[in-house]
Amino acid sequence: MKLLSLILTLSLSLLHLASAYTNPIRNPGGADPFITKSGDGYYYLLSTEWDSVRISRALTIEGLKTAPSKVIYQSTATNRCCNVWAPELQWMGDRWYLYFTAGGDANLDNQRAHVARGGVSAWDDPYTYVGAMSNQWSIDGSVLRFNAPWGNHFVYSCFNGLQYQSICIQKLANDNVSLVGAVSVISQPTASWERQQHPVNEGPAPLYMGGKTHLAISASYCWSPAYCLGLLTWNGSGNPVQVSSWTKSGGCVFKSANGHYGTGHNSFFTAADGQIYNTFHATSNAAGACDDNRYAMVQPVTLSNGNPNFGVPAPFSQAFTEPA
Ligand SMILES: *[C@@H]1O[C@H](CO)[C@@H](O)[C@H](O)[C@H]1NC(C)=O
Ligand SMILES: *[C@@H]1O[C@H](CO)[C@@H](O)[C@H](O)[C@H]1NC(C)=O
Repeated sequence: MKLLSLILTLSLSLLHLASAYTNPIRNPGGADPFITKSGDGYYYLLSTEWDSVRISRALTIEGLKTAPSKVIYQSTATNRCCNVWAPELQWMGDRWYLYFTAGGDANLDNQRAHVARGGVSAWDDPYTYVGAMSNQWSIDGSVLRFNAPWGNHFVYSCFNGLQYQSICIQKLANDNVSLVGAVSVISQPTASWERQQHPVNEGPAPLYMGGKTHLAISASYCWSPAYCLGLLTWNGSGNPVQVSSWTKSGGCVFKSANGHYGTGHNSFFTAADGQIYNTFHATSNAAGACDDNRYAMVQPVTLSNGNPNFGVPAPFSQAFTEPA
């Protein structure tokens, strides 16, 4: 009996080494996690410190836990030295662009979305700072892609004159580093599931799945267990800057479970085999957390009746198959 269980344990851990990953992928320091899969075979994980953006890379999801990392953005400029948040790498036709949030050190009033231009290699090429994407308060910027006639748009969390953090959209110019046309608000925290402890919409994350274009959003106050993911879905034909072209989920599509609280501020990546993964942060603090104790987790997203199914945040003990 003992020998049998030893053999079982050994073969399970071998299996695990060969083809599975477990969560968390980063702990602590896993806030606003972003992973992308590059054509060069690597997964790239971005993370932030107070004053910098750091990149790690590995050939497997499991490998990201121990991957080498380096700083790719850091500045002493007083308008973007500090409070560095929510970095994203976007491949724009022929090179990488790094979109991130930064501001000053005194308060959060000057948080802006910024952009740096990279090269063909996310790892080897330098990122040259270009400028701010917006001159208004703007955080968590991401690129939302549409076919003609709409083209690429920039989505971010904003106030835009409103009382509460909302989701703004604006057309991305052909240079990929500036915005054109009017700012438009496509989501505000109006439903009760978006207003727990404080009304918030932030962290927009594009998701293209089942032939539809979605935008996940993070709703409610991050320092609460109710911080969760909601989903906006484009109607497939309307101008994306019009709120009438979008419908919002009737509640959270992904929320606290299994001892993981405040599951939100996510991003998506597509593995080489086409499987889409949700990268999100959570905390074991039942009151929620907005601090460095948040850890990063990765789970597959499936389709149910044509719509994304995020499942529930799984216990750390659950192993997931490493994508092919
Ligand atoms: C901007 O991105 C598009 C792809 O979306 C790319 O084709 C184009 O070359 C980029 N423009 C510049 C100036 O890099
Ligand atoms: C999508 O929304 C636009 C308004 O933004 C509307 O004109 C159009 O009819 C809608 N299309 C569908 C398929 O619902």
